[in-house]
Amino acid sequence: MSNVTVFDHPLIQHKLTIIRQKNVGTKEFREIVDEIASLMAYEVTRDLPMTDITIETPVQETTQKTLAGKKLAIVPILRAGLGMVDGIMKLIPAARIGHIGMYRDEETLEPVEYFVKLPEDIDQREVLLVDPMLATGGSADMAIDALKKRGAKKIKLITLVSAPEGVEAVQKAHPDVEIFTASIDDHLNADGYIVPGLGDAGDRLFGTH
Ligand code: PRP
Ligand code: URA
Repeated sequence: MSNVTVFDHPLIQHKLTIIRQKNVGTKEFREIVDEIASLMAYEVTRDLPMTDITIETPVQETTQKTLAGKKLAIVPILRAGLGMVDGIMKLIPAARIGHIGMYRDEETLEPVEYFVKLPEDIDQREVLLVDPMLATGGSADMAIDALKKRGAKKIKLITLVSAPEGVEAVQKAHPDVEIFTASIDDHLNADGYIVPGLGDAGDRLFGTH
């Protein structure tokens, strides 16, 4: 089974509670998703390898730590994953961005893939796959398949709200993928929505219905 990390940081939990509320509008929703994504990125990158570098301060030469130059890619699942990209980019500005376009068929809840564009060297990059919602897990599962098919080896899935059903599905299909989430909610309802959840993340981010 893959690892699941649920972020219990008070700032993340506080901000998530704000955007769950139905009276929060698009502007505030978008801003807070961005902030949560930054906070999550800080934790998700905790294990990035470091190396020593010799530098000169105004006082003397010294050997200090720097990132080992490991390459990263941020890959949002469209549309809603886009809302998390800028928040992560603030901390990792040199990361490359891939895109996976996918929507859930409203009747069957099965994901439909419509677009994949990834950095050419995706096989050499650690991938942060981002999507605010992990519901049935179908979209994440298919997106991970798309990444692996193109050579991605180390993948971390970052979500805001997850259903237990989705976590289990991804763990079963992809035990090598680490999952990071701000909440594992109670259950999925008959329409495939996470309960209590926050509604349709794409619609709330982009002001569509
Ligand atoms: C939402 C969400 C995930 C997916 C999760 O996208 O952003 O991609 O549903 O559901 P699943 O785990 O059951 O697959 P949606 O299909 O609404 O598309 P959108 O982001 O374009 O609105
Ligand atoms: N997609 C969403 O945007 N919200 C849910 O609750 C489930 C899937």
